[in-house]
Amino acid sequence: MKIPCMQMFCLIFIFFPTVILAADVFPGSTLYASNPENSWDSPNKTFLLSFIQEAENFYFAAIIYNGIPVWKAGGDPRGAVNSSAALRFLPDGNLQLVNGPTGSLVWQSNTAGRGVSTATLDDTGNFILKNGSNIPIWTTFDNPTDTILPGQNFTVNNVLRSGLYSFRLLTSGNMTLQWNDSIVYYSSSGINSSSTNTSLTSPSLGLQQPVGIFSLFDPTISNSSPLIMARSNDYGENPADTIRFVKLENDGNLRMYSSAKSSTSGNKIVRWTAVSDQCEVFGYCGNMGICSYIDLTPVCGCASENFDPIDPKDPRKGCKRKVEIKDCSNRTMLLLDRATFLTYPPETTSQYFTMGNTACRSNCLSDTSCMGSTSLADGTGVCYMKLSDFISGYQSPTLTSTSFVKVCEPAMPNRPLSSREDRKNYNAMKISVVVLGCCLILVISAGVFWVFFCSRKHNFKGLPTWDSLSEYASALPVHFSYKELQQATEGFKEKLGEGGFGAVYRGVLTNKTVAAVKQLEGIEQGEKQFRMEVVTISSTHHLNLARLLGFCSEGRHRLLVYEFMKNGSLDKFLFTSDEQSCKEVRNWGYRYNIALGTAKGITYLHEECRDCIVHSDIKPENILLDDNYNARISDFGLARLINTNGQRHRSILSVRGTRGYLPPEWLANLPVTSKADVYSYGMVLLEIISGRRNFEVSTETNHKKLSLWAYEEFEKGNVEVILDKRLPRDEVNIEQVIRAIQVSFWCIQQQPSHRPTMGKVVQMLEGISEIRAPPPAIKSTSANAQFQVLPMVSSFQTVLNSSQTTANSSLASEQKSEGETSILLHEEEA
Ligand SMILES: *[C@@H]1O[C@H](CO)[C@@H](O)[C@H](O)[C@H]1NC(C)=O
Ligand SMILES: *[C@@H]1O[C@H](CO)[C@@H](O)[C@H](O)[C@H]1NC(C)=O
Ligand SMILES: *[C@@H]1O[C@H](CO)[C@@H](O)[C@H](O)[C@H]1NC(C)=O
Ligand SMILES: *[C@@H]1O[C@H](CO)[C@@H](O)[C@H](O)[C@H]1NC(C)=O
Ligand SMILES: *[C@@H]1O[C@H](CO)[C@@H](O)[C@H](O)[C@H]1NC(C)=O
Ligand SMILES: *[C@@H]1O[C@H](CO)[C@@H](O)[C@H](O)[C@H]1NC(C)=O
Ligand SMILES: *[C@@H]1O[C@H](CO)[C@@H](O)[C@H](O)[C@H]1NC(C)=O
Ligand SMILES: *[C@@H]1O[C@H](CO)[C@@H](O)[C@H](O)[C@H]1NC(C)=O
Ligand SMILES: *[C@@H]1O[C@H](CO)[C@@H](O)[C@H](O)[C@H]1NC(C)=O
Repeated sequence: MKIPCMQMFCLIFIFFPTVILAADVFPGSTLYASNPENSWDSPNKTFLLSFIQEAENFYFAAIIYNGIPVWKAGGDPRGAVNSSAALRFLPDGNLQLVNGPTGSLVWQSNTAGRGVSTATLDDTGNFILKNGSNIPIWTTFDNPTDTILPGQNFTVNNVLRSGLYSFRLLTSGNMTLQWNDSIVYYSSSGINSSSTNTSLTSPSLGLQQPVGIFSLFDPTISNSSPLIMARSNDYGENPADTIRFVKLENDGNLRMYSSAKSSTSGNKIVRWTAVSDQCEVFGYCGNMGICSYIDLTPVCGCASENFDPIDPKDPRKGCKRKVEIKDCSNRTMLLLDRATFLTYPPETTSQYFTMGNTACRSNCLSDTSCMGSTSLADGTGVCYMKLSDFISGYQSPTLTSTSFVKVCEPAMPNRPLSSREDRKNYNAMKISVVVLGCCLILVISAGVFWVFFCSRKHNFKGLPTWDSLSEYASALPVHFSYKELQQATEGFKEKLGEGGFGAVYRGVLTNKTVAAVKQLEGIEQGEKQFRMEVVTISSTHHLNLARLLGFCSEGRHRLLVYEFMKNGSLDKFLFTSDEQSCKEVRNWGYRYNIALGTAKGITYLHEECRDCIVHSDIKPENILLDDNYNARISDFGLARLINTNGQRHRSILSVRGTRGYLPPEWLANLPVTSKADVYSYGMVLLEIISGRRNFEVSTETNHKKLSLWAYEEFEKGNVEVILDKRLPRDEVNIEQVIRAIQVSFWCIQQQPSHRPTMGKVVQMLEGISEIRAPPPAIKSTSANAQFQVLPMVSSFQTVLNSSQTTANSSLASEQKSEGETSILLHEEEA
């Protein structure tokens, strides 16, 4: 027993001084690029400062975490040096990066003569130059380059840079991304502008470990919680040695990453992205470059054959005209269909006129300083004239705008969709070769069989085969013709279900993908707005959201094509007594996972995607289950299709919600927010736990509405009674069940403000966040009084309060049989 003890002592004695030595750097020390093994380490070696090689003879002096540079001396690309470089901590206290044998200065900390006597790299990744009394004189946290680490305070005085791109925090609390310190292509505020004109005094951004919440701190808002600006999409489900960081990449996008020290060097996972559409980053494809997508990847190209790429090896460098405008006498405007020249502040204010397509073209042609123009073609008549030298383009079938670019005659458009044509021809060739070979063999072997087989093959030839295969996999929704969908569904034969927005049919697309085709009803929007909403819906990607594959907008037909979910919707599993069908969902683990997945999906809609989406029809019928019984929410974004005018609140003219899941504020004509979804979710959660419909009233629930009965039983401590009888008790994690029940009670609070946000719901379900004892959802009648103002909704109020009355069984079954209700809310400004 003595020996290990002694060893411990020895270890401490031997180790401690070396740790100190490793942590402190003294003036006179130097790191050389020629010796990248040489480094200044943090005490526990999480971070190290050394040279890192990024390409041949291309080095940076950097603070490195797990092979990833998180700070670069001099920034990128200005701090780039070659193998002869050195990082010198001079006796006068200055830190210098020099290049070449002559030691030409690349960057310095400017701390000479300020009493700097030591330097330390601490375990948070901060490199600190200190004076004799251990006071920090200069730190890398105060002088960031392109990365923000947890614990770092990013203030309005700081800036992240990467090439021409920069990231700043404004005094208003807005986070902004800029190109060349002028064009603001991203601005995001965590502040509710409509509430007050809160003037911040000294805002700063910080990244919280381990959950990965990027939030805004300020003394003026210290009373309330910090404002959340961005949130990691994984809710802290990570190995313990994971570090998160926010980085401005050289593609102009700001991203949050997580990287586990135990993972392979350089491995990092994207957890959040500021500009979700990469092609919307100004200048991503350089000057005159046009950004578009092939599958999910943004690619850069030139507008037409009138242009040459500046660097064929690097399309992001942009394009230049083969003949400069000033060198030719005849000019014309080249048409770019479904394209836009990105126009952000400050260009937006100075350069637009109200005119149509033709005028947008000709005005630019006659204006000598105009290099291109974009007509929004959305009925507003807005035309942006590009007077600056720098033009950044974006072309996509989902855009509706038309652009014109000035070129010397003659205009030589790119061959339309050349690459795709080639691929199609190639595929067609491949197919015909196969078919030919096939037929030959068959002809020889069996004539009868040949007739049968080849006539079938012939049928396929007529369809637009194969070409759209890659399109289904891309981010952009495919535009189907009505006829195509009619064929795919064999004339809308097999009905899968009937939702709030129309019937859903099974269909088989030309690439054999099985899909669910939704025939929308009551869409009053025009083609243009419909397309815009479709793009929003299809740009919303999350594991727990059903994916939109395509759409059809033709005449009065509006259809959406979703991926097909073999396992159908949650209601079938929860509410059928069929023993066979609900095997999987008779396990608490699956139930909990579905509940959690649904919460995550809604959180994504509310808080993480570009335009916040209030689902407004959360119910088991809209929660689909994929092959692994993961929850996939469908029908999101559709409420907006129905709501014709674009106002943010009170814009709802005709609401299709589902009784039982509708929060009281819907019925009382009060403002409806994302908290409405929280209410509906709470009801669904209770149903997942209990396996009963929330509006079902039976002797088992003591003739009370589920939520009320469950609350009473919960108060009495009868958790077992609430839990679905079909769930085998030995598999149940009772702690999770109690947590879930409490969460559901919080979600169905009458007062929207008392309900948690969905992000909070996820944290509570996962046990990250503590749960206070929930108050009863429905208090006495006095709490209800404010919702009983409008006589028009009195009948629904009765439904809501049916728990108090002893409902007879016929009423109960009637409620069960018609799940869906349409309610008309009056548009009345308070
Ligand atoms: C590194 O760069 C410096 C200055 O740019 C130059 O003088 C030196 O020759 C270069 N050394 C090598 C090895 O490329
Ligand atoms: C190093 O220290 C940091 C900060 O104290 C801590 O978060 C991290 O887990 C430590 N890493 C190791 C490998 O001990
Ligand atoms: C270190 O800096 C602090 C603040 O600037 C100053 O008060 C202190 O005297 C300095 N200590 C030494 C030893 O220079
Ligand atoms: C962050 O910076 C702000 C503004 O300079 C300052 O008021 C605040 O105290 C700092 N917070 C921390 C934790 O350093
Ligand atoms: C960036 O802006 C400066 C002036 O602010 C201008 O001289 C320069 O040409 C711009 N860069 C590009 C690539 O347009
Ligand atoms: C802040 O960002 C919001 C968008 O989130 C924008 O509407 C607003 O104009 C911005 N404010 C400033 C001062 O940039
Ligand atoms: C903004 O604040 C007002 C009043 O405090 C509140 O009613 C509204 O819901 C808030 N809006 C958002 C988007 O948070
Ligand atoms: C809001 O801002 C306006 C003008 O900037 C100012 O006159 C007004 O007093 C401010 N209101 C509050 C409540 O701070
Ligand atoms: C320019 O236009 C004029 C009149 O249309 C034509 O005669 C002339 O050949 C054109 N020049 C060039 C270089 O295309």
